[in-house]
Amino acid sequence: MTLPNHFAPEPIRFAYWVPNVSGGLVISKIEQRTSWDADYNRKLAQIAEAAGFDYALTQIRFTAGYGAEFQHESVAFSHALLAVTTKLKVIAALLPGPWNPTIAAKQIATISQLTNGRIAINVVSGWFSGEFRAIGEPWLDHDERYRRSEEFIRSLRGIWTQDDFTFRGDFYRYTNYTLKPKPADPQPEIFQGGSSRAARDMAARVSDWYFTNGNTPEGIRAQVDDIQAKASANGHSVKVGVNAFVIARDTEEEARAVLQEILDNADPDAVKAFGHEVKNAGKASPEGEGNWAKSSFEDLVQYNDGFKTNLIGTPDQIAERIVALKDAGVDLALLAFLHFQEDVAYFGAHIIPKVRALEAARERRAEAA
Ligand SMILES: Cc1cc2nc3c(=O)[nH]c(=O)nc-3n(C[C@H](O)[C@H](O)[C@H](O)COP(=O)(O)O)c2cc1C
Repeated sequence: MTLPNHFAPEPIRFAYWVPNVSGGLVISKIEQRTSWDADYNRKLAQIAEAAGFDYALTQIRFTAGYGAEFQHESVAFSHALLAVTTKLKVIAALLPGPWNPTIAAKQIATISQLTNGRIAINVVSGWFSGEFRAIGEPWLDHDERYRRSEEFIRSLRGIWTQDDFTFRGDFYRYTNYTLKPKPADPQPEIFQGGSSRAARDMAARVSDWYFTNGNTPEGIRAQVDDIQAKASANGHSVKVGVNAFVIARDTEEEARAVLQEILDNADPDAVKAFGHEVKNAGKASPEGEGNWAKSSFEDLVQYNDGFKTNLIGTPDQIAERIVALKDAGVDLALLAFLHFQEDVAYFGAHIIPKVRALEAARERRAEAA
């Protein structure tokens, strides 16, 4: 038999969203036992590590808005999670503008040294103009934000890998700069978030990982084909992570009922205001294919379109859909939950083993073929 185009022998990786901002990962008044505080998050990181998660992703927000009333800072918080785990890699979100590459390179190199190379970064390019205004940062046009992010990434890589690093960009400049100590091995992996053409082009040139919003396997495959074609033309290789909100129950009806309850309790004003903000942020993206370009009201109740990926059903259905994502070229599933500690433990006990069994069966079929 023939296997799907993108089927990769490596096991799919799992990451979870660190709830380091308040309100959980849905804009809904449904009861959530998730907390944004440090103790809850330290315990969650240990649960996730034991459950078989490879990565945790922190978020960066500088101001409140649409639910995130309190927000812990991403780099400091990532280090706190690394301090209580031994294998988990933590991805710290960095926003060029508030961060410059000099400070970011130094901070991350030190954390890398302190944690045997378990720190990674997620370069985000900004969607919240009100946040930039509040902190006195210029709000650049969409594609200019990506031009700056690309220079930010090139600067980080140069500082981390070269002595006497010299760089002449429009946003950043270095002259014979040598960082000591450099990060520990392995080098910090560079993730990025965004789905627009500018985001995909940047991924195909400089990022190790492309993170995108929730989507169907067909929607993901179109992005993967585009990125991988461009990356191979550039002699670059990039992996893909997709967001999903997981609701696992004994029956599909029960899982769908939970989704309905989340939607019924959505805060309509907050969801509409968030929708206005993100669509406005993507407007300058000339081709109109940004992260939220096609999001409906229901999609926006989860910040990154996580219901669209449809990991909502029984453990068997969820495992099969994860393998379908892998067939579409996904290397990592980035997951959010309603009650993080309980749901992450459940996912590790009941869903990851099913995914591994399906992958092993695929592998055997591939060998036989
Ligand atoms: C997985 C993921 C994580 C993100 N995390 C953050 C974050 O912590 N802070 C932030 O301001 N933006 C975050 N973003 C938003 C992106 O940086 C970007 O602004 C947004 O996806 C719009 O990009 P686009 O219009 O190019 O598609 C994230 C996006 C994704 C996909």
